[in-house]
Amino acid sequence: MSNPYLDVAIEIALEAGKILREEFELPPDIAYKGDVDLVTQADKRSERAIVARISKYFPDHTISAEEGTGHQRGSEFRWHVDPLDGTTNFAHKYPCFSVSIGLAQNDSVLVGVVYNPIYNELFAAARGEGATLNGKMISVSQVATLSTSLLCTGFPVHKRLASPNIHYYYDFTLRSHGVRRDGSAALDLASVACGRFDGFWEFGLNPWDTAAGSLLVSEAGGVVSDFNGDPYVVGGPVVLATNGRIHEEMRHAALTISQRDPNAPLQSNLQAAQK
Ligand code: IPD
Ligand code: CA
Ligand code: CA
Repeated sequence: MSNPYLDVAIEIALEAGKILREEFELPPDIAYKGDVDLVTQADKRSERAIVARISKYFPDHTISAEEGTGHQRGSEFRWHVDPLDGTTNFAHKYPCFSVSIGLAQNDSVLVGVVYNPIYNELFAAARGEGATLNGKMISVSQVATLSTSLLCTGFPVHKRLASPNIHYYYDFTLRSHGVRRDGSAALDLASVACGRFDGFWEFGLNPWDTAAGSLLVSEAGGVVSDFNGDPYVVGGPVVLATNGRIHEEMRHAALTISQRDPNAPLQSNLQAAQK
């Protein structure tokens, strides 16, 4: 793959990953953004480095970065930056976290990079050019049924008591080989892209969580939609990313769960439920 935007995204993700590796060796420096929403020195250092480097290369581009140091420009190009996806894991010394960087032109993600600096795994994709893991092409799994699939999901860091996803988690666990909860949505999507997971869903993710990962999945041959089957729009209220083969089965199961349990809303009423 040869794409100047992707080359820059990779260079920046590797630099941010180095910062996260250094910080991971230090005693955790944790502050709270909310009840259980953590932020560390590592999130901030990583974001500063990423924003500085993108601004140097592309001063006219808009940057949306989770910790708020990005900037708005009158550009159709927008970088979606999660400087540390999996902060809770990081703070607990669980080595499952990533840097996630995606570049969108209007609503279309052009390139995406997800980097796990501890395992030194670099996932990269460019629209129309496929997806790679450490430079080798990757593709989604061949698993054809929900009952033989390994799934993954995540839960928002806020709302300890009222997560509608509990109902989906329970039900999909019974319908599959199991549901993992790894704690980094960007890595979850990357794991679907390379066939480790056969499907992933989550409610309420932000664009910086999914921009890069959703491109990885589609470029690796998977399908990314909402629960209605409409193409996923970055930052939409629910994402369903699968190997394609189990997509309709998962979607129908999700509809059944939402109809059976009034506390398990679909995306149409999820936003209201989360307020
Ligand atoms: C979180 C992780 C987690 C997901 C949460 C996200 P953060 O991001 O991606 O897997 O379940 O919804 O907020 O806060 O660690 O960047
Ligand atoms: Ca995140
Ligand atoms: Ca983050």
